[in-house]
Amino acid sequence: MLDLCITNCKMNIGAEEVCLGIEDGKIFSIKKLPTAASETIDVQGMLVLPGLIDAHVHFRDPGLTVKEDFFTGSAAAAAGGYTTVLDMPNTIPPTNTPQAIMRKRSIALSKSLVDFGLHVGVVDPSHVRELAKYSPASFKIFMDLVDHDFLTEAFRKISDVDGNHLISIHAEDPQLVKQCTQKMKMEGSSPELYAMARPPLAETEAVKNAISLAKQFNQRIHFCHVSTPKSLKLIIQAKNNGLDVTGEITPHHLFLDSSYLKSYGNLAKTNPPLRDREHRLVVKNLPNIDIIGTDHAPHTIKEKNNDVWNAPPGVPGLETILPLMLTQLNKGKISLRDIKRLLCERPAKIFNIPKKGLIAEGMDADLVVVDLKKENIIDPDKFHSKAKYSPFKGFRVQGMPIMTLVRGNLVMENGEILKNQGKFVYQNTLSIENE
Ligand code: DOR
Ligand code: ZN
Ligand code: ZN
Repeated sequence: MLDLCITNCKMNIGAEEVCLGIEDGKIFSIKKLPTAASETIDVQGMLVLPGLIDAHVHFRDPGLTVKEDFFTGSAAAAAGGYTTVLDMPNTIPPTNTPQAIMRKRSIALSKSLVDFGLHVGVVDPSHVRELAKYSPASFKIFMDLVDHDFLTEAFRKISDVDGNHLISIHAEDPQLVKQCTQKMKMEGSSPELYAMARPPLAETEAVKNAISLAKQFNQRIHFCHVSTPKSLKLIIQAKNNGLDVTGEITPHHLFLDSSYLKSYGNLAKTNPPLRDREHRLVVKNLPNIDIIGTDHAPHTIKEKNNDVWNAPPGVPGLETILPLMLTQLNKGKISLRDIKRLLCERPAKIFNIPKKGLIAEGMDADLVVVDLKKENIIDPDKFHSKAKYSPFKGFRVQGMPIMTLVRGNLVMENGEILKNQGKFVYQNTLSIENE
């Protein structure tokens, strides 16, 4: 007798329905007929996808929990169809020492409803060998905050560590950002000026720079939130030259342009900023993009109400991306294959997350059931995130996640959140207990 059998699952549009047998949190069987199980869930012909994996979230825990914490962030994840998140290091303290990593890991183990991994920051390149022992999802570098010597040293040291570690990069050139910001500040204060303070060139210069370091040190790199066609072109070229370089896009850079800064003001302020029509990426570019990362970056509305130069950049994204993508699927603008690749399979592969990203026997039973017909109007007041704002407010969508299961445990049903204990996704290289 299995633990759970989920019956009448469609794995593809138009495909025959199957039953998923689940045992010990893993997919045990995929069969035409149901298997005897302690519990059965009939999903009545709904589409079932692998649980989504977000390689780029900011859960603000510890230190900034007024914006979000691991409980509310992971509730937003489960509500959005996500079963795994990789958290960024810019918390207080930043996740860049063994103590900070262990502290965040234990916070997440006690609060997270979904499985998680942790990106690790680099404050002193000579420490990366030690930090590598803590199974970081990647070493995260904010290029806008470091100089070239530091960057080179970080690449040198990380490429020296055994185990082929990944560097995740926020690509904006610090000098260009500084110069343009000084100039734009003199012109006044508006979100449009902020966008010009961090121009497309600041991104492409940084992308170029990072690619040349990747080549010099034979180091694999992942670009977070790629926002311009030129950056994407550089990434494609680097791949064609045999470099291990990948690129991510956020939902806001994919679906919005800088005209939204007029209507949404600072609520649409992000780094890198939204681009104008000429310099933005669109759904048509998705075949050349590796993953979608939400860059879920919650702030309080109070902070967002500051003038543009003082309001923090970032928008929450976990609860809106799947409905937005399913809407594109319903319109015939994107394939289900691409949705699974961008949101499940490639994130698992790039960030080396074991047993996730695919529905297959032996994999973790991380699943999201979606109702392709269900319509909704995006309403941030209903978010589980503490950040109840969104540049997608009022968007009409068709296609909603209705059930999320993490290792066979139901954590979301029709928007309701249920209890669960998230796990650290990487094997413990140290003898650290996971439970
Ligand atoms: O918009 C952003 N928000 N970009 C970043 O690089 C940081 C992030 C945050 O942590 O708020
Ligand atoms: Zn960033
Ligand atoms: Zn980010």
